[in-house]
Amino acid sequence: MAEFDLIIRSGTVFDGTGRPGFPADVGIKGDRIEAIGNLAGAVAAREIDAAGLYVAPGFIDIHTHSDWAMFGNPRMESKIRQGITTEIAGNCGTSLAPLIGTARESAARTLARIGRDPDWTTLAEYFERIEANGIAQNYATFIGHGTLRQAVMGFEMRPPTPDELDQMKRLLAEGMEQGALGLATGLIYPPGCYADTEEVIELARVMAPYDGLYATHMRNEADRLLESVAEAIRIGEEAGVPVQISHHKAVGRRNWGRVNDSLELIEKARSRGVRVDCDQYPYIASSTNLGVVLPRWVFEGGNDKLLARLADPEVRRRVAEYENAENLSRGAGWDGILIADSPWAPEYEGRTIAQIADADRQDPLTVVFDLLLTNNGYVGAIFFGMCEDDVRTVMRYPHTVIGSDSSARAPYGLMGFGKPHPRTYGTFPRVLGRYVREEKVLTWEEAIAKMTSKTARKLRLRGRGELRPGYFADVVVFDPNSVIDRATFTDPHQYPAGIEYVVVNGVVVIDRGEHTGVLPGRVLRPGA
Ligand code: ZN
Ligand code: CU
Repeated sequence: MAEFDLIIRSGTVFDGTGRPGFPADVGIKGDRIEAIGNLAGAVAAREIDAAGLYVAPGFIDIHTHSDWAMFGNPRMESKIRQGITTEIAGNCGTSLAPLIGTARESAARTLARIGRDPDWTTLAEYFERIEANGIAQNYATFIGHGTLRQAVMGFEMRPPTPDELDQMKRLLAEGMEQGALGLATGLIYPPGCYADTEEVIELARVMAPYDGLYATHMRNEADRLLESVAEAIRIGEEAGVPVQISHHKAVGRRNWGRVNDSLELIEKARSRGVRVDCDQYPYIASSTNLGVVLPRWVFEGGNDKLLARLADPEVRRRVAEYENAENLSRGAGWDGILIADSPWAPEYEGRTIAQIADADRQDPLTVVFDLLLTNNGYVGAIFFGMCEDDVRTVMRYPHTVIGSDSSARAPYGLMGFGKPHPRTYGTFPRVLGRYVREEKVLTWEEAIAKMTSKTARKLRLRGRGELRPGYFADVVVFDPNSVIDRATFTDPHQYPAGIEYVVVNGVVVIDRGEHTGVLPGRVLRPGA
């Protein structure tokens, strides 16, 4: 009689490849799936009854900002409870390695929030810290382009010298050697936005021998969306690397519908043999630092200079003038920008800029300056800038995968701060419950493939993303009738419904909807 450590019995199995569900048992031994089929004659140390439930590969969140979340709470609550078994960080230009120069100072400022020092420099050392700390999910990361630039040239608003470019290349190559997934840019954020296309191409070339991936928060997702997609494609094409367009969307009412054109650009590139994909979170609001509404020169030279400028009436006047020429509220309007995280003045969280301006009898721009100043340059904000039709269009596109664009949080403890975007707790269950079950935008098997095998292939995560004998036992068991997000914009710290069991490397982390506290996650080093 066959013996397993764990059998998940009588569920409907979706293997992750896009194949429809079929009735089967899943037998697990150690950290691997050993058998899928009728295991009626087999025994196991532990059995899970999955009758009436769906069994799928653990979800892979391709776009996260959980770079330091495990040090605040290794249980990774908001993520593992969505069924996410692998977390991908280092996105939008910022990673927690290598930490040199200004990059170290920025990391220290971030980590101060949880009372932790960045006591590492290289990616290899950072990975060791994570392993020593423990983590509930598997974890892999990109190297951030902004981080490389900070390491070598701080917040200088200029092109690198040949020597500086060489240093960045060397640091990136070292990161790839130590297991990074590739390079991620944030071309709207300082200092990444100070780079021209050629600089990024030069860096991306470094990854080609490692088959690294170029992920990008593009230069513009609003009026210059199409030029930005063209830039991303050009970078991939000239550097000879695959491209991942992060959180694809069209921002601002006058740009709604343009995702049809951007997806066509992607299709054209694909037909020429350029490997381009995108990812998406299922919401009509985005979230980032409130500072993105200000012109880039305000950030030149680093945080101290930023704070001095924020306090300078002359700078405020110049920006106010600039606002006449460009719409600083990024197509959301001041009533469409909600404060999510204001560490030094939490009373503003959950209110819009327009509401605060009204109550304080200030103009909206003054509110922005004051909030940023009070909070040492960082204020988390939510921008209602997209439309539902575009969300569906991007979701249907076969080369779109799902990524939450969020950091692991918890409703308690060190990671319980702020009113984060509900995608933090809801992304994957929302796609399943709302867009599959309720609106039928995708079938179950299509949605699951966008959360598993398609993502694993893109990231070169070997042995993950499918339920298949010999693969790692990363598994989620959920109830198709009840799975749904529960986090809202005003009350975001809420776990989703319907995620019953989550298994990571053969170990049960979520058991009947509750966290067992075990930390079986591993650092994955696909590039090494
Ligand atoms: Zn981004
Ligand atoms: Cu991001």
